[in-house]
Amino acid sequence: MATRRFLITAGLPYSNGRLHVGHVAGAYLPADIYVRYLRATGAEVRYICGSDDNGVAAVKTAREKGTTPEELTSRYNASQRSSFDGLNIEFDIYGGTHQPEFVEMHERMSREFFLTIHGKDYFTKRTTKQLYDAEADQFLPDRFVKGTCPHCKSPNAFGDQCEGCGKSLDALDLIDPVSTMTESKPEPRETIHWYLRLDQLQDRLRTWLESKRDTWRPTVVNFALGQMTPDEGGLPERAMTRDLTWGVPVPLDDLDAQGKVLYVWFDAPIGYISFTAVLCERNGEGWQAYERWWKSPDCKVVNFIGEDNTIFHAVTFPAMLVATHDSDSIQGEQGEFQLPTNVVANAFLNIKFPGKEEEKISKSRGNAVWIEEFLQTFDPDPLRYYLTANAPESQRVAFDFDDFVKRNNTELLNALGNFFNRTMTFLHKYFDGKVPPSGTREPIDTEQLERCKSAVIAVADDIERCRFKAALAGVMQLARDANGYFDTTAPFRSRKTDMEACGRAINVCLQTTRTLSTLMAPFLPTSAEKCRAMLKLDDSAIAWATATDQLADGAELGEPQLLFKKLDPKELFGEQDG
Ligand code: MF3
Ligand code: ZN
Repeated sequence: MATRRFLITAGLPYSNGRLHVGHVAGAYLPADIYVRYLRATGAEVRYICGSDDNGVAAVKTAREKGTTPEELTSRYNASQRSSFDGLNIEFDIYGGTHQPEFVEMHERMSREFFLTIHGKDYFTKRTTKQLYDAEADQFLPDRFVKGTCPHCKSPNAFGDQCEGCGKSLDALDLIDPVSTMTESKPEPRETIHWYLRLDQLQDRLRTWLESKRDTWRPTVVNFALGQMTPDEGGLPERAMTRDLTWGVPVPLDDLDAQGKVLYVWFDAPIGYISFTAVLCERNGEGWQAYERWWKSPDCKVVNFIGEDNTIFHAVTFPAMLVATHDSDSIQGEQGEFQLPTNVVANAFLNIKFPGKEEEKISKSRGNAVWIEEFLQTFDPDPLRYYLTANAPESQRVAFDFDDFVKRNNTELLNALGNFFNRTMTFLHKYFDGKVPPSGTREPIDTEQLERCKSAVIAVADDIERCRFKAALAGVMQLARDANGYFDTTAPFRSRKTDMEACGRAINVCLQTTRTLSTLMAPFLPTSAEKCRAMLKLDDSAIAWATATDQLADGAELGEPQLLFKKLDPKELFGEQDG
């Protein structure tokens, strides 16, 4: 069989803040699990990420912190990179759309994209009015205007949407608008922008999205198709340029383009491509080798994102890709940018501290759980475990500290850790660390080994469909069944009466640890490494196809190691207040 190839991306985080658990649960961790699994099946994979440095968010934060966007984004690019490292989220490259080693390639590719689409007449140049902050000397993006909602009169309306009634708004319709940059009153001024003709691309996008109904998460397809309903006018044109100096300059030889940059949501997804090009260059293949990943129908592109990014990955970015095509093929012919095979979106994560109500994660309320801080107290695997076992795959869920501690202690420790521990301790105590003979297996033994085989298939099937929570539940079920097998065959009793039966049971337990060590690796890479050390296996045991390979009779195994630590809620939250 030809080697499968995948190009996996995770949404580029804005480099104007630190990473918290919500970010990780949303995109980076599920993508990392997927990548580790795909590699274990022998697929050729590249996992691409980096920071989203452009746009007004960086400008605003830099201004608030009294620094420059360059300094700010380079600082947070490094901070986020180290949080990812600490969680063993391993990218093949971590770029940044304005980082020194990437900006040149990124701007070149972004310009080329814009010019190709421009050449194919998918932009309309329009004059519009927009709110201008005279004090900050700049046009205000919708999100940076607050005011009173013209519909419900709620005072909590932003330029794009009212928090009160949820209606989407035009910033110019806000009553008593205030700039959140300077708190001054903005005034409407004329400006010129380039609008992407989504209306002309909509039919092709709809056909493409309809074909994904059976394979994508329904939340993603339905949301995207919901934007295209004809009675609401379908997709509007969207401005792809902004009045800003920080970003990729609009590459047109046109006086009206001066002082303008590409909209951050235009250039950011191109970052996936430009970082791939830098990766290829660094690998010595030449930057053009990115085409092997992006312009070849035999490579599957899968984007992992948080729910708020859905419109941009299921509609806008695909529209940009389609707009570059020469052929009528929607997916793209060989040599054309391929549309994603899947766009996997998770919902947001709320937060719940002991003794408090569940709430939204909000930087301003200061209730986020920062990865940096979390890793000072905890190991990465328990967090990876909890964020997967409790993943917001189909709806919002809460990061609940009590639940985190409980699941660590009852599931990781009592089910998975305990099974390894009791098996390995027993082996060293009564069999001198050597695998006892498998002997003549009884039905109860072969049933347990069958459960191993079925788990390998079921877990793979769930991961292939991006059902990571279900996949992890399958791994844990195997661990629980294994404890059941241990209890039922009771080697701790048979060792006194029937050493052969005792050895047979321990042999089956060891074969089960062998399988578990492979199945847990995508989810819990550090713990899986410890398991391999206990079983004296090298890294090749990560390969999915080896999961039910048998440990040989008489093989000498390593010392038992504790996989997980018990967490004591009193120690952690002694002072009730989080
Ligand atoms: N920076 C955006 C966010 O954090 C995500 C950008 S994803 C990309 O919501 F595709 F545009 F890169
Ligand atoms: Zn309203």
